[in-house]
Amino acid sequence: MPGELMVRAGGKEYPILVGSGSYKEALPEILRRLGPDKVAVVSHPPLREMHGKDLEEALRDELPRHGRVIWFTFPEGEENKTLGTVTEGYRFLLRESLTREDMILAFGGGVVGDLAGFLAATYMRGVRYLQLPTTLMSMVDSSIGGKTGVDLPEGKNIVGCFYHPEAVIADVSVLRTLPEREVLSGLAEVAKYGFLYDTEILRGMEGWPEGRPPEGYDFAPLVRRCAAHKARVVGEDEMDLKGIRAFLNYGHTFGHALEAAAGYRMLRHGEAVALGMIMASRMAEWSGRARVPLVERHLRVLLPLLRDIPRPLEVSARDILGFMEADKKRGRSLRFVLLREWQSPELVESPPPDLVWETVERTLKDLHAAR
Ligand code: GLY
Repeated sequence: MPGELMVRAGGKEYPILVGSGSYKEALPEILRRLGPDKVAVVSHPPLREMHGKDLEEALRDELPRHGRVIWFTFPEGEENKTLGTVTEGYRFLLRESLTREDMILAFGGGVVGDLAGFLAATYMRGVRYLQLPTTLMSMVDSSIGGKTGVDLPEGKNIVGCFYHPEAVIADVSVLRTLPEREVLSGLAEVAKYGFLYDTEILRGMEGWPEGRPPEGYDFAPLVRRCAAHKARVVGEDEMDLKGIRAFLNYGHTFGHALEAAAGYRMLRHGEAVALGMIMASRMAEWSGRARVPLVERHLRVLLPLLRDIPRPLEVSARDILGFMEADKKRGRSLRFVLLREWQSPELVESPPPDLVWETVERTLKDLHAAR
């Protein structure tokens, strides 16, 4: 289609279809092209309950008469993104006689997308799959670019591979049923693109009353804009080896440690990343690396997104630093994305430990004081 957003990476090319109601429009055509007998939807039980009927309707018409839509659902939560769940998935697909001519459809947020992608990459040496993200975070980031995988007790995304979908279908009408806290959390990843690449995104967010999207807001243009940044970055550095895709981890070094220290349940991923970006802006300023003031604007854009986090936030600087240290022991250097100026990121390896400690401790203290 002309003007369509495309990902070009790893010798593959696939569209990102953004719109309201886009899955009902896009799925029949994709199914006609790929011609599966069965579609295995990987999802969570509440999503199946909420959207299952509509999704099956969009799929069934294009399947042959003997074709079927089958569902592999597992409980929500990062703690279920494991090899155990993947093994259950393999056995389910075998029982249902899914073949390499068939297809998997990832229908959910980041956890579903990562796990379903890995299942698709490894079942029978690889079956084709589609990403149909249902959260704002997964629409603008995790569903695009072929990162798949699961966690081990030792850490997140330890097992996985790059395996691209046939298409990403971001249907923003699905966001209407998403809890507001989840939308706010996804907006942290949107703001990330603003800080890294796109001042228009920041201006738009700053223009919202109370820093949040107004009632009835149409997310499609914003999702399209972010997805275009993601597609470009993936095209330039598919395997995350050139230090370009790594910028997408802005706020994530602090954020992952915060999530882990908070036990994953207390903070949404985007909330942890929002706090992580605030910390990164402070570290850039305090270390003298930033050539412009960064912190105030980070607070203006990000604090409204943290409206629903538990207060006081029961995490300690010691725990957060402990998780970072554990990562270091596994041979990963402590690497931060910092801004020199707006839309001018750089990678900083192993900054002075005192600076990291002070950044975490003072930010947590300010957060407690602001409750
Ligand atoms: N979510 C970061 C990446 O895809 O590289």
